Amino acid sequence: MVDTGKAMPVRGIIRRFLDMPLRRKLILSFLAVIAIGGILTLFIGTRIEHATIISLAEAKVRHDLASAWMVYQEKLNNIRDIVRLSANQEFLIEAIRSGRPSDLAAKLDGIRREFGLDILTLTDGRGRVVVRSRHPGISGDNQSGDPFVARALAGRSAAGTEIVERSELLKEGADLADRAFFRFVPTPMAAKRAEDYEENGMMLKSASLVTDENGAFLGVLYGGLLFNRNYDLVDRVKDIVFKGEKYKGHDIGTATLFQDDLRISTNVLDDRGNRAVGTRVSREVNEAVLRRGNPYLGRAFVVTAWYITAYEPIRNIEGRTIGMLYVGMLERPYIDLRNRVMATFAGLAGLCTLFLLALLAFVARQITRPLGVMVEATDRIARGDLGYHVEIGGRDEIGQLAQAFNGMTQDLRNARDDLTQWGRTLELRVEERTRQLREAQDQLIQSEKLASLGKMAAGVAHEINNPLTSILLNTHLLLEESGDSEEAREPLTLIADEAARCAHIVSGLLDFARQTPAMTVLADINEIIDRTVQLHEKQAAVRNIRIEKRLDRSLPPITVDKNKIQQVFSNLTINACEAMPDGGDLTITSRLRRDGTRIEIVFADTGVGIPRENIPKLFDPFFTTKSFGTGLGLAVSYGIVRQRGGTIDVQSEAGRGSTFLVSIPLEDEVKELEGEEISP
Ligand SMILES: Nc1ncnc2c1ncn2[C@@H]1O[C@H](COP(=O)(O)OP(=O)(O)OP(=O)(O)O)[C@@H](O)[C@H]1O
Ligand SMILES: [Mg+2]
Repeated sequence: MVDTGKAMPVRGIIRRFLDMPLRRKLILSFLAVIAIGGILTLFIGTRIEHATIISLAEAKVRHDLASAWMVYQEKLNNIRDIVRLSANQEFLIEAIRSGRPSDLAAKLDGIRREFGLDILTLTDGRGRVVVRSRHPGISGDNQSGDPFVARALAGRSAAGTEIVERSELLKEGADLADRAFFRFVPTPMAAKRAEDYEENGMMLKSASLVTDENGAFLGVLYGGLLFNRNYDLVDRVKDIVFKGEKYKGHDIGTATLFQDDLRISTNVLDDRGNRAVGTRVSREVNEAVLRRGNPYLGRAFVVTAWYITAYEPIRNIEGRTIGMLYVGMLERPYIDLRNRVMATFAGLAGLCTLFLLALLAFVARQITRPLGVMVEATDRIARGDLGYHVEIGGRDEIGQLAQAFNGMTQDLRNARDDLTQWGRTLELRVEERTRQLREAQDQLIQSEKLASLGKMAAGVAHEINNPLTSILLNTHLLLEESGDSEEAREPLTLIADEAARCAHIVSGLLDFARQTPAMTVLADINEIIDRTVQLHEKQAAVRNIRIEKRLDRSLPPITVDKNKIQQVFSNLTINACEAMPDGGDLTITSRLRRDGTRIEIVFADTGVGIPRENIPKLFDPFFTTKSFGTGLGLAVSYGIVRQRGGTIDVQSEAGRGSTFLVSIPLEDEVKELEGEEISP
């Protein structure tokens, strides 16, 4: 339950991020990478760089401290040499022997001043002071307890640093004791001390044995230099090691001598520009160096500024820690150097970031623009614009996608065109099929009509034929018997004519009804036309009708029942002639249909034409508009042509003439021919 509360916003943020436009997502991701990378680099870089610069500075300080020790040692050696050389001076031996210390004091004081020592004192062979060059008035005290004197008395010359108590300093002169005295300047970081002043001094000291020419033991000469408020050593260190360089008004390098934790000689300045003597070292350094006797290296706030510092203990000749030698380098120049490097680093990083951002914007655009185009294209295609073409070059994945996309739209386009085309063809086919079906249905109705009518006609004809023959026969007999009597002949002739007409109708009925099998032979259709025309030509001419033939003589032969086809052509010719009572033109054309599957014979007249309402009834048996007609001509013709697999079509307009088109397929013909060839 606790987790859900935290997970929800995180999940929400992730979802919101995932829903962003691609371009923004890319830029945000890149920015995150740049920011994280930049911060890490900056952080690590700063660390490394800081560590490097500071450790360089520390190494230098350590080296400087070593140099400072050399200056210190040189000073000590100097004092040792002065004391030793002075101890061997002839005048000294003479003076000791002669027992005139006043002369001696003057001589020794000359040497002391010449070499800048603070004390130069002579004792006798037991360590009692013979003369103090600085303060000749006090003598005779025993110095054999002094470690340097004691060592000299033991035959070894000695040199080193030592704490000298105020009482001893007072013996050498009140001014010296005053110089050594410090009241502590309050230092917040310093360790607590019971007292608030220092009255002892710290001194470089050396003692040397005085012997005569025979090596006889005469006394001890010891000299020393009080460090308190003596700035020679520290300033020399500053000059030699740091060459007095300054940085923004501060000395770059400083050196200090500590007596215990107290600054007794230094060139570190306080905020008023005075030497910061009387202040004390921090608790931390105190602990490390004075209490534990270790060197200390590190940054420290010294009086007014941060320094990179090195402290080492100063030990007396017995090895006890009595003070410290310090050198420090102002941290500021290093910090400034580090900051400069960091600024350069950050500047470069900023430039790199800007460059990366520009690159990022460019790359993001390169990716998202074509994607936008693809989205637009998909949209267009979804709206049905299949002609849309994506214009994206390049061979990368997006380029390939665009190519595939264009291929896909092309396929879609083709499929759609095919479908449309197919739909159109389908429509045409349906129309064609419907027409064929209607035709077949019409034909079926027609043939059924014909069949039933045929049966009836045959029955009627058969029944009528015998009485009719009998009527005709008897009428002719009566006519013969009637002689020349007009009165009797006239009705008999009428009866004979009408009976003959009935016989004609009956024979027509029988023709119609008789479904005789076709006697098919290979025939030239033009020849049949020729014969038909020959039969009717003369009679037509009498009625002022011209028959014109337009025959395609290259027509292939066709298997038909020649007589039946001739009967069809005759019926059509007679009908045409009968439709032109005042004369006209009948044009008979034969031709191969354009697709080469059928032979077509056209009878076109310029006669009275057929009213529109009569056209559907033309092929019905007994349909006639003529007083003398039987109405069987077209019905019989239709039956014959259908039997051969053909059709008869009519086009007519009342008053303008009619056109009858007989169409006979060649296909059956071809089959039959093939059949003949196979079985001769
Ligand atoms: N060429 C034509 N021009 C005008 N009408 C025609 C033509 N041919 C046929 N007809 C019409 O079609 C009817 C039927 O013709 P069909 O040949 O079947 O019978 P008919 O000519 O009337 O009689 P029959 O042929 O027995 O003498 C005709 O009566 C006539 O009205
Ligand atoms: Mg007719």
